[in-house]
Amino acid sequence: GRGAAMVTAVALRLAAQRREVEEVLGPLRLTHADLEKVQALMREEMERGLGKETNPTASVRMLPTYVCRTPDGTERGDFLALDLGGTNFRVLVVRVTEDGISMASEIYVIPASIMQGTGEALFDHIIDCVIDFQMKQNLVTQMLPLGFTFSFPCEQVGLDKALLLTWTKGFSASGCVGQDVVQLLREAAKRKQHLGMQVVALVNDTVGTMMACGYDDPKCEIGLIVGTGTNACYMEEMRNVGLVEGDQGRMCINMEWGAFGDNGCLDHLFTDFDKVVDETTINPGKQRFEKLISGMYLGEIVRQILLVMVDKQLLFQGRPCPKLQTRNIFQTKFLSTIELNGLALRQIRAILNELELDASFEDSVLMREVCQAVALRAAQLCAAGLAAVVEKMRENRGLEELSVTVGVDGTLYKLHPRFSDNLQKTLKELAPNCNVTFMLSEDGSGKGAALVAAVANTTANAME
Ligand code: GLC
Repeated sequence: GRGAAMVTAVALRLAAQRREVEEVLGPLRLTHADLEKVQALMREEMERGLGKETNPTASVRMLPTYVCRTPDGTERGDFLALDLGGTNFRVLVVRVTEDGISMASEIYVIPASIMQGTGEALFDHIIDCVIDFQMKQNLVTQMLPLGFTFSFPCEQVGLDKALLLTWTKGFSASGCVGQDVVQLLREAAKRKQHLGMQVVALVNDTVGTMMACGYDDPKCEIGLIVGTGTNACYMEEMRNVGLVEGDQGRMCINMEWGAFGDNGCLDHLFTDFDKVVDETTINPGKQRFEKLISGMYLGEIVRQILLVMVDKQLLFQGRPCPKLQTRNIFQTKFLSTIELNGLALRQIRAILNELELDASFEDSVLMREVCQAVALRAAQLCAAGLAAVVEKMRENRGLEELSVTVGVDGTLYKLHPRFSDNLQKTLKELAPNCNVTFMLSEDGSGKGAALVAAVANTTANAME
C-alpha cells in the first residue's frame, strides 16, 4: 500500500545519502596496505635524512641533538626552564635532588602579534616573563642554569648552539631564521640587563619529553608529541648519524617528522580537504605530515568536510550555514569531546548549538562520524611513523624483539579519548615484533630541559 511505498522511498533516500557520505569520507579511510606504505616511505626518508650526502634532499631532517644519553638518576641541581612552541609558553624552576624532582611554573601568554612580530620583541617578551617569574619565586639573587625547550626545527652545533631552520605552527617572528636561538635569548637578556640566568642547553620538546620519562623509566628512548604540532625523537646509533663525527654510542635524533611529505612523497594521500587546509596556512606546502595529524589542523579538516557536506545537502538539510565559514571554530577540545564515550547525542547537539550550528540529531550523528574519520586517520598515520622508528631501532640492535617505552606529550594525545588506543592498536599491527609501552609525561618538556641541562653539567664536570 501507500505506507509501504513511503517506507521504501525513505529507505532509498537514506541509502543514497549513505553512499554519498561514504564517497566524501572514502579518501580519508586508510587500509593496512596504505599504512604499510607510509611506514616504508618514512623509513626511506629517515635513512636519507641520516646520510650525510642524502640529508639535503630528505623531507625528514633527522637533526642531531647532542643529547647522548637519557638520565641515570645521578643528576642534581636547580634549574630554570623555558617551554616555547606548544599551546602555552611556560617558565619553570626545576629542582633535581636525590629524592626526586620538584618544580613550580607559570604560564605566560604570547599574543599572536608577538608570535608574528619581530624576533627582538619576541625574545624581549620572553625575558620579561623570566624576570617576572624569578621575582615571584624569589630567585633574583641567584644565577641559575637554564634549559630552553624550543619546539621548532634547529640545526644544532652543540647543546647550546642551535640555528633556527624555519618556523612552524603559528610562529613567524622576523629575523630569527638562520640565527642561533640561544644567542638571541642571551642578547635579549643583555638588553634587559638581566644577569640571573645562564642558558646552557636548548632542546626540542620531543627530546625534553623523552628525557623526562627517561628519568623514571630507563627503557624510554623515544619521545613523541601530538599537540599543536607533531614530531618524534629517538636514540640512534652514532655509526648511523652521518652528520656528526664519531661511531661510538648513541645520539638522540630530532626527526622533525612533521615535514615528512614536503618533497611530494605523500601526495597520493592528500584529499581535497587536506589541500585546502594546507593552502590557507601561513606555510603552504610545508609540514604536510603534521597537517594530517596535529591539533592545529584537524578541526580545519573537519570544517572543510562539513562545508562540502552542506553543499551536497547531506547536512543541515542543505540550509546554508554561515558560521561554518569561520576559521578554527573546531578546537582540539571539540574534536575530543564529540568522541567521548557515552556522550549523548543531545549533549553533542548542545555543543553544536553553542557554536551556533543549528544541528538536528541526524546532523549530530554525521558530524561525530566526520570527526571520528579524521581523528582515526591521524592516529593511524602517527602509528605508521612510529612503526618505522621502532623497527629501525630493533634492526639497529640486532634484536628479534624490541621492548621500548615512548614518552608522550601533547594536547591532542592527552585530551582525545580514542587517539592513544587507535595509535597503539595500529602500531601493533605494523610492528608486531616490537613491544611498545606509552608513558604520559607530566610537564615533560620543562622537566626534560632541566635534565638535559643537568646532564650537560655532569658531563662537563666529568671532563674537567
Ligand atoms: C613542530 C616543530 C617541532 C615540534 C613539534 C611539536 O613540528 O617543528 O620541532 O617538536 O611541532 O611541538
